[in-house]
Amino acid sequence: MEFQVPQGQEKYQYVQSKFTEIAQKYDLFNDLITQGMHRYWKNKVVEATGLKKGDKALDLCCGTGDITLRLKKKVGEEGVAFGMDFSIGMLQVSQTRDPQGTCRFLQGDAMKLPFADQSLDAVTVGFGLRNLVAIGDCFDEVLRVLKPGGRFVSLDMGKVKLPLANWVFSQYFHQVVPLVGKLLYPGQDMFDYFPASALVYPSQEALATMLEQHGFEKVRFTNYHLGSTVLHQAFKPPVCLP
Ligand SMILES: C[S@@+](CC[C@H](N)C(=O)[O-])C[C@H]1O[C@@H](n2cnc3c(N)ncnc32)[C@H](O)[C@@H]1O
Repeated sequence: MEFQVPQGQEKYQYVQSKFTEIAQKYDLFNDLITQGMHRYWKNKVVEATGLKKGDKALDLCCGTGDITLRLKKKVGEEGVAFGMDFSIGMLQVSQTRDPQGTCRFLQGDAMKLPFADQSLDAVTVGFGLRNLVAIGDCFDEVLRVLKPGGRFVSLDMGKVKLPLANWVFSQYFHQVVPLVGKLLYPGQDMFDYFPASALVYPSQEALATMLEQHGFEKVRFTNYHLGSTVLHQAFKPPVCLP
């Protein structure tokens, strides 16, 4: 039977507890299912932020800190890279990957950010939006905490347009991805959640429209792997109208 993505508060709790359950082997899982390509896409995310030395950046849904650590390299010693996630298990792994404590990891909800208005130069999120109960609430919060002209960059799954390629990717996500996951964590249903959550996630065009509707400007996206993975870039207007 097809996996049903839970809704509302049930989804929030499901995602939070399941990511903690799979945290220890999450990086291995990512490497296996993307054949290491997620590293390349994450480098592109950091490039798209336009961050400079000394800037302040936030990586939402940071997981094991892959993007956060890259952001830290970009902003340098004088800058700050925050990584925020609501899963304690994921945060524990992120801290072991940053033994010197160069990044600032914190627990929190991507739809309610504990940051002051206009305090950050860039906000990123990697494979996170799909898991949120209300993506629009996250966009409103990101817009609030970004400085005028600041950038938001999201990496996530997208829709493949070419019918044959779509069929191939769909087989891969629905058959191979859960199989790889279940080999790592026998009996774990989280790996059926992944492809099911992608089905109900907006297309790249729809997400771009949502970003504009929430007040971002110069929204654009880049497709990778025929659109199965997408990078969105959006700017907070230099002067934000009320
Ligand atoms: C697929 S993982 C991505 C991790 C990392 N960004 C990466 O690309 O490797 C999604 C992460 O989003 C986190 N997450 C989901 N919903 C969240 C929320 N409402 N607030 C904060 N973190 C959330 C999960 O705990 C998980 O670590």
